[in-house]
Order: sequence, then structure tokens, then C-alpha cells
Amino acid sequence: MAYMFFSVILMQLLFSLHNTKAQAQFSLNKGSSLEVERHDQPFLVSEDQTFSCGFYPIGKNAFTFSIWISTNSINKTVVWTANRDSPVNGYGSQVSFRRDGNLVIRDVNGSVVWSTSTNSLDASTISLLNTGNLVINNTKGNSVWQSFGSPTDTLLPYQPLTKGKKIISAMAKGEVSSGYYSLYFDSDNVLKLIYDGPVISSIYWPNPGNNAFQNGRTTYNSSRLAVLDETGLFISSDGFTVSASDLGGSNIRRLTLDSDGNLRMYSLNKSHGSWDVSWEALPKPCDVHGLCGQNGICQYSPSQGITCSCLPGYEMNNRNNWNEGCKPKFTYSCNATKSHFVEFPQVDFYGFDLSYSQQISFHDCVKLCLQNCTCIGFGYRLTGTGVCYPKNALFNGFNSTNFPGRFYLRVPIHSNDLILNSHDNLDCTNVTPHMVVGSPSMFGTSQNNTKWSYIFIFVGVFGALETVLLVIGWWYLLRDREVPKSIEEGYKRLLSQFRRFTYGELKEATSNFKEEIGRGSSGVVYRGVLDDKRVVAVKKLNDVTQEEEEFWAEVNVIGRINHMNLVRMFGLCSERKHRLLVYEHMENRSLDKFLFENDMTLQWSQRFKIGLGVAKGLAYLHHECLEWVIHCDVKPENILLARDFEPKIADFGLAKLSKRDGSGFNTSYMRGTTGYMAPEWALHLPITGKVDVYSYGVVLLELVMGRRVSDWVSSDGEGRMRSITGDVRRVLEGGDELAITSLVDVKLQGQFNNEQLVIMLRVAASCLEEERNRRPTMDEVVKDLIAFDERDDYSLSSN
Ligand SMILES: *[C@@H]1O[C@H](CO)[C@@H](O)[C@H](O)[C@H]1NC(C)=O
Ligand SMILES: *[C@@H]1O[C@H](CO)[C@@H](O)[C@H](O)[C@H]1NC(C)=O
Ligand SMILES: *[C@@H]1O[C@H](CO)[C@@H](O)[C@H](O)[C@H]1NC(C)=O
Ligand SMILES: *[C@@H]1O[C@H](CO)[C@@H](O)[C@H](O)[C@H]1NC(C)=O
Ligand SMILES: *[C@@H]1O[C@H](CO)[C@@H](O)[C@H](O)[C@H]1NC(C)=O
Ligand SMILES: *[C@@H]1O[C@H](CO)[C@@H](O)[C@H](O)[C@H]1NC(C)=O
Ligand SMILES: *[C@@H]1O[C@H](CO)[C@@H](O)[C@H](O)[C@H]1NC(C)=O
Ligand SMILES: *[C@@H]1O[C@H](CO)[C@@H](O)[C@H](O)[C@H]1NC(C)=O
Repeated sequence: MAYMFFSVILMQLLFSLHNTKAQAQFSLNKGSSLEVERHDQPFLVSEDQTFSCGFYPIGKNAFTFSIWISTNSINKTVVWTANRDSPVNGYGSQVSFRRDGNLVIRDVNGSVVWSTSTNSLDASTISLLNTGNLVINNTKGNSVWQSFGSPTDTLLPYQPLTKGKKIISAMAKGEVSSGYYSLYFDSDNVLKLIYDGPVISSIYWPNPGNNAFQNGRTTYNSSRLAVLDETGLFISSDGFTVSASDLGGSNIRRLTLDSDGNLRMYSLNKSHGSWDVSWEALPKPCDVHGLCGQNGICQYSPSQGITCSCLPGYEMNNRNNWNEGCKPKFTYSCNATKSHFVEFPQVDFYGFDLSYSQQISFHDCVKLCLQNCTCIGFGYRLTGTGVCYPKNALFNGFNSTNFPGRFYLRVPIHSNDLILNSHDNLDCTNVTPHMVVGSPSMFGTSQNNTKWSYIFIFVGVFGALETVLLVIGWWYLLRDREVPKSIEEGYKRLLSQFRRFTYGELKEATSNFKEEIGRGSSGVVYRGVLDDKRVVAVKKLNDVTQEEEEFWAEVNVIGRINHMNLVRMFGLCSERKHRLLVYEHMENRSLDKFLFENDMTLQWSQRFKIGLGVAKGLAYLHHECLEWVIHCDVKPENILLARDFEPKIADFGLAKLSKRDGSGFNTSYMRGTTGYMAPEWALHLPITGKVDVYSYGVVLLELVMGRRVSDWVSSDGEGRMRSITGDVRRVLEGGDELAITSLVDVKLQGQFNNEQLVIMLRVAASCLEEERNRRPTMDEVVKDLIAFDERDDYSLSSN
């Protein structure tokens, strides 16, 4: 009985709770307000519950006043924002419908960041209509202000785009602040998309190569009005009409200018809570201008999306921002005899033509460009009799398989060395190593061996780093108010670039964690197969409470890096107590299997390749990133081998970020693996990248000798390592070839390259210096080794 009574009370309680939640109103009178602290409650909710408005979090402690559609219990899609470029503090800010008829947003210090400026005393109510329009009505029931009149990046059905109004994209996916793309009616009455960036502005839709009529538009209707309706029909006064692929019905729809510059119509799939694209303005994403900056090339693939790269021989101006484009690493020569051209099939740069010539032979086009100092390249299309576009600046570059023309870049004749240095093109944000091959020169015959560097392309224009910087920026701005206890929030935003898996998905992918393929310092690694048949390695961390820190450390580090010698992460799972990381799977497992298990042997060339590759990966970690990364656990177990024996460093669970000044950090506990650990760990000296250099030295010796050098330490203490290093040094100094050869793994049966052997031993010996300042940097190691690299890396370019 008491039990029943209790449950009735409980139910009533729940019911009333539910009720207060559902009580959000669609209309309020003057004097109403909402404090930002109550951002979990909406200010207004439309009568049919589709739209809500209120404070929307855009970062740690930063809020905007927005209207959104809740697609499900978690996700919100913002369709309008009042203060998109001036968010307010998460404490003490307020939105109020004041007695003077103004809707006003105030920041914590009392300053008004946004207002409707409706100082009309007969304004009486503010309501959120079922259309998503926020309106202020006067006592007569007429609206005196409406949010439909000042669109942000989205048009809702029946929200008109009119003369003088602009739809402006967000800066990046998932953000609300203004970006560089707009949709507007131009002075010729045509609806257009324009990139209006810091350096150039350029119209890219409708096709700027055609005139209005060729594009199916008219310039004569000056009403300048475009509207979407609820059935998915978008009609513009310039004659442009488009209908959604799912025309009809009563879907919730929106037309949004996305941060990638594409205009898309979406309809909400209610059963899935997802937005389906029912039309987009540019089927080829790289037709959008300004995506990769000056001298950058945009490339699209369905799997990777949009990627940017610099032209070979160019490097990014700002490694965190493709808007700033790339700059050449050589200087152009005005002297025609000192220039030649490199051909890029399928590549073009839109605009900035010095001239335009039809019916011109390729040879004359070359001459045309050479004659003019300001010409830095030309596009040539062999349609009909040949069209020539000499250019004085390269913007809006793209690479597309069905582009009929070719681009020819003017470079100085003796520029190979400048173009070669692969190191300079590294980018620490979300990049994928990518080999770009240029065709042999068009002029002169001595250029057959043109060598091109690795070009690293950036996945998505605004990478994770920018997001992190934004979060950090806000944190600095607002830290007086509250210092975040955990930076996990920041990581979470960083994660948006990775796929998030559910535990169930990964359990299924690994067939309930059946096939173990390795054990890292922080967890067991299993083989898995994803839905798309991709084979992956899934690392499952053992104990969450203990390893939460390691999990985030690893994610944090791996989120910043991308290099061909560092293992790539595809996604992760953080669900209740489960923490899993999903990596690319390596065909050949880890180096230790090959070195120390008797049934497998690595060829000499493979060993050298591994030594060099690991050095490149570490050099990247130590020297190239915004914050330096110290791996702290370099050993053969953490070096995975791809099918072609290209090494990939894995397991960043112990990695540390270090300041760029190289001052190192202090630690009270030891990390890493005995045998590979530098003496400073035991001496409690500050830890710098030189600990990795030491461990690398051990690995290099093991590569040469084919047995565990590190084992000797455990049997006999540190002294033994010293003695083997001493042996190596003596042998090198003695120069006795037989003695040197005796150090090499017998399994190689004398098949090795003597010069490479000597340099590997030299480097190993210097890496193993007790005094860390005498050890080389990883950059120096790469330089030493690469000089003896006889692989013909670039053979592709000389065909
Ligand atoms: C929220 O949206 C993201 C990205 O669109 C999606 O991956 C996620 O599954 C959504 N969450 C829910 C609960 O639907
Ligand atoms: C309030 O703070 C904002 C941002 O911190 C600042 O720009 C503004 O000048 C301040 N206003 C007043 C009245 O202090
Ligand atoms: C406010 O005005 C709009 C447009 O005139 C009208 O559709 C709406 O019903 C009005 N709302 C109220 C609460 O009077
Ligand atoms: C101009 O465009 C408007 C809006 O689409 C349309 O109603 C009107 O009929 C057009 N005028 C002419 C002359 O086509
Ligand atoms: C919603 O999405 C699912 C999966 O993409 C699809 O099968 C279904 O037909 C969609 N529903 C509607 C109404 O479009
Ligand atoms: C261009 O370079 C060539 C070879 O160095 C030289 O002979 C010629 O005089 C130069 N021409 C001009 C215009 O400087
Ligand atoms: C180079 O081209 C520009 C633009 O067409 C022109 O103004 C200039 O005179 C040309 N210079 C020479 C040397 O032909
Ligand atoms: C253009 O794309 C093709 C195919 O992906 C690639 O082989 C080529 O290297 C790319 N060119 C440039 C300059 O990026």
C-alpha cells in the first residue's frame, strides 16, 4: 500500500517535472528575460515545438542567442543567430524583451552586444512562429521586427532573400561565426555566390565563365527576390528555379550556405534525426573559389572530401590556415632562357588571366607567357584550335579528373633542389602525406630527373587546430570568470574530425575482441573489420579510471599530427567506462617480430628504410608541430610496418607535449620501457626530445645487429649499454672493416650496404651519448641518413 502511494507521488512528481519542461511558451510579453545560466531552457518554443530560441553554447563559456531545430534529444541545428560574431559570456549575460520594446542581449559587464533597435512603445509581444520566424508584434498585431529580415547562413521556407540582404556562411563546420562565402543579389539582379576573402573576392556561382543568359538567368527582373517554399521549390526573380529531389510533402526544410561555400537544400529525416541533402548548387565541391588560398590546389574525393595541397615547390604561408595559401620556395626569373614549365594535367586556376587567346598553338602560348615577366604559368586547353590563359596570379586552383585542360607552371631552370626539400612542406594540422608527381619539363632536356617533394594535403579547410585555437582563445578571454577544470571539452570539439564509434559497433567489428594483434603500454590491440570492409586495429584501454589521462593524451597528440611515418587514427569510442581507439591496420605487425623472431628476416634495404622512416616520423613530432611532441616510448614494439615496410610509429599513450623553446618538462615518475630509456629519466633531469633520440639510437643498433641490445641492460644494469656503445665507437674509430662487419646481423649473410652500415652505426653511437646535449636532434639524424638513401623515391617523376 505504502509502495503504491509512493509510486503515485513519484509519478505525479515526474509528471509535473515533465510539465514544467513543456511549459516553454511561444509568446512572451514585455519585461521577460532569460539568463545565460539557464541556457538549458529555451527562451521561446514555437507552438508546434519545431523551433526553439535561447542561448546556444558555441564553446566553453561562450554563448549566442540563436534559433534552432532540435533534430533529436541531443542535436540542434542552428538556423539563425542574433550575435554570431560577438558571443557573450556564460555567466551573467542576459537576453531581455525590455519595456521599451527592444529585444536586447547584454554581456556580463552590462554592455549591449545586440539589439533589435525597435524602440516602439506599442511593441507588446515577442513570439516564435511555427515558420521559425521570431517576431515582435505591436498592440495591433502587426510585426515591428522579425528575424526573417536579417538572415544568417540559412533561409527557411517563406523567408525571403531580398535586395541588399546576404546569406553569409559560417566560418567552419559546426560554428556560427561569419565566414567568407555569401549568397546575394548582385547589381545586375542575378543571384550569386561569392567568395569574399581577405585577399581576393571571386564569384563562383552561377558559372562565372558564362554570361547570365548562358546560365539561364535574366538580368531584367529587378525585384530581387528569392524564396524557398515548404515543398522544396526554390524560386528566384532572376529566373533560377530548382526543386528538391524529394519535392512535395511537409518535410522540415532549410537552404543553407555551408562553410565549404556550397549552397545546399536540406530536408529533415524525422525517423533518423538527420538532414538529407535534397539539392546542392555545386556538384563539384572544388568549383567553389577560395578554398585553398593562393597557389593552393583543391581536390575532392568522396572518401576524403575536400583536400588542399600546395603546388610542388610551394609551401604554406601559415600552416594552420589555407586561406593564406602557399608561397614559392624559389624566385621567378624574368629571363626567358632561365625558365621552363612543368605540366600538371587536370589542374586549373580560375581567373587572373593576363590575356585570353584562341586559336593559338601550344608553342605560341609558351612564348606568350615567357615574353611577360608577370606571367607565372598558363592554362592550355586543346578544345578546337587551342585556348591559352597566361596568368599573373594563381587562385581558385583545383585538380579534377574530368577537366579537359592542363596547367603549366613557370619555374626557374635550376630549381630542383629548392623544390626537393621534402621537410618544408610538413603541416601539423590534419594532413595526409601525399606524393605529387610532376611531369618532365617542357623546355630543355636536362630536367628529366625532376624530383618532387612530398606534399601534404590538408583535409578540410578548417582543421582541428583552428577549432582548438578558438577554444583556447575563448578560454583566455574568459578565464577570469572560470578556469575550466577539464580540457576534455576542447578535445571533444577536436574529435569532430574523427568518426565516433559506439562500443557495440567495435565489439561487432572485432567479433567480440577475438583476434589480439598486439599489446601497447596502455592496452590490448585487436584486429577489426568495419562496415566498409576496412581492416582496422582497435586498441582497447584496460582500466578507464587509471588510463583516462592516457586516452586523452593519445587522442590529443594524434589529433594534431599526420605524417606517413606515424600511424593514423580513424576514430574512437568513449562510452561509459569504455575507451577505444581505432587505427589504420598494418599488414606487417611490429618491428620486434621481424628483428627478434627467428623465422623472419628483414633485408638490409628494408632495415635502412625503417631506420630513416622512424627518424622522419620523430623529426616531425619533435620539430614540425605547433607544440612539440615527445613520444617517450620509442621501441620496436611501437614501430609498425606497412606492407611495403614503410615504418609507422604507434602508441602515443605516454607522449608529452613540450614547449617550443625545448626547455622540457619535469616528471616525478618514469615513462617508457627499460632498456630504451635515456639516463635522464633516472637522474630526474628535465625531459626533452633527446630521450626519444636515445631510444631511437637503441632501435637503430637493434636494426643493424638483429638482436635485443636493450636486453643487455636488464641483465647487467646500465653499464652494459655503455659498454656496447663503447664497443661500437671503438670499432668505428679503428676503421677496421672486418670488425665493423662483425656487428651486422648474421642472418643477412653479408648482404648489406657498407656505407649505410657505417652511417647507421655512427648515428646510433651519437644518439646513445650519455650527455643529452651531445646527442643530435632528429632533424640532424634525418639529414645524415638521407644522404645515404639510395632508394629511388622519385623514379615516378622521370618517366
Ligand atoms: C548528432 O549529430 C552527429 C553529426 O551529425 C551524429 O554523428 C550523431 O549521431 C547525432 N547524435 C544523435 C544522438 O543522433
Ligand atoms: C564589456 O566587455 C566587452 C568584451 O569583453 C568589451 O568589449 C566592452 O568594452 C565592455 N563594456 C563595458 C561597458 O565595460
Ligand atoms: C504577430 O504578427 C505576425 C505577422 O503580422 C502574425 O503572423 C502573428 O500571428 C502575430 N502574433 C501574435 C501573437 O499576434
Ligand atoms: C520578377 O520576379 C518576381 C518574383 O519571382 C515575379 O513575381 C515577377 O513576375 C517577375 N517579373 C517579371 C516581369 O518576370
Ligand atoms: C530516412 O533515412 C533512412 C536511411 O537513410 C531512409 O531509409 C528513409 O527512407 C528516410 N526517410 C525519409 C522519410 O526520407
Ligand atoms: C638571359 O640569360 C642568358 C644566359 O644566362 C644570357 O645570355 C642573356 O643575356 C640573358 N638575357 C637577359 C635579357 O638578361
Ligand atoms: C604583361 O602583361 C600585362 C597585362 O596584360 C601588360 O600590361 C604588360 O604590358 C605586359 N608586359 C610585357 C612586357 O609584355
Ligand atoms: C591531381 O590528381 C591526380 C589524381 O589524383 C594526381 O595524380 C595528381 O598528382 C594531382 N596533381 C596535383 C598537382 O596535385
